[in-house]
This record gives sequence, structure tokens and C-alpha cells, in this order.
Amino acid sequence: MPLDLLDQARRAARHAYAPYSGFPVGAAVLTSTGEIFTGCNVENAAYGSTLCAERGAVMAMVAAGFREIDTVAVVGPDGPCWPCGACRQVLAEFGCRRVLVDGHEVAFADLLPRAFGPGVQKLD
Ligand code: THU
Repeated sequence: MPLDLLDQARRAARHAYAPYSGFPVGAAVLTSTGEIFTGCNVENAAYGSTLCAERGAVMAMVAAGFREIDTVAVVGPDGPCWPCGACRQVLAEFGCRRVLVDGHEVAFADLLPRAFGPGVQKLD
């Protein structure tokens, strides 16, 4: 499964819109009930309006009616691409337990220990 999820993230990265950074990213979230949602980064001429791949995947998950993340996989263009701080906070909201990036599988709690939010009990 981990390879499949990374592969889905890699496929999503092909659709990234990253003309400003030249740094395409893809993400795939696996829900606790087995559904997979993907996202890619979508940049904007007003740079602050950019959305990261991970948050794009989470928004698609929520819009489809799911709220519990088991695992997130992230693929960038070059080596491990760890979720940024804002994405970690959003992933924590939905109870993310595990993170896969190229060559690494880690507990989410190691990326955002003592997280603030409703998911905090699930992350211990
Ligand atoms: N980016 C992501 O999509 N996810 C990350 O985890 C790190 C950064 C995007 C945002 C921006 O479009 C580009 O990568 C460069 O920062």
C-alpha cells in the first residue's frame, strides 16, 4: 500500500501548477476507511494565494464527505518533501497518523508533537 499511495502522489504532482517556484508537489491522503484523495500545489501570481498539494488533497477529502486521515504521502521534484507547517496543522485537524515521503515512513506525531486541535488525543 505505501508504494501505491506514493505512486498516486507522484501522479498528482504531474498536474501541479507551479510556474513561479518550479517546484511541483503531489500528495495523496488515505482515509481511515480506505478512500484515497489527491492534490497538487496550485500557485498564483499573488504568491500568498498558493495552495500546497497536501491541503488540496485534504480539501478534496472533506468535500467528498470524509474526515479521518490515516496516512498522507507527499512527492516533490527532488528528494524527500516534508509537509510545511501550515499543512501539518491542517493534517492534524483530521487525525493524520502516518506520513510517507520518498524513502521515509514516520509517525505524524513526530512531525507535529503536542499539536493544537481536536485531533490532539488521537496523535498521542
Ligand atoms: N509545497 C507544497 O505543495 N507542499 C509542501 O509540503 C511544501 C511546499 C509547494 C508550495 C509552493 O507551490 C512550492 O511547493 C514551493 O514552496
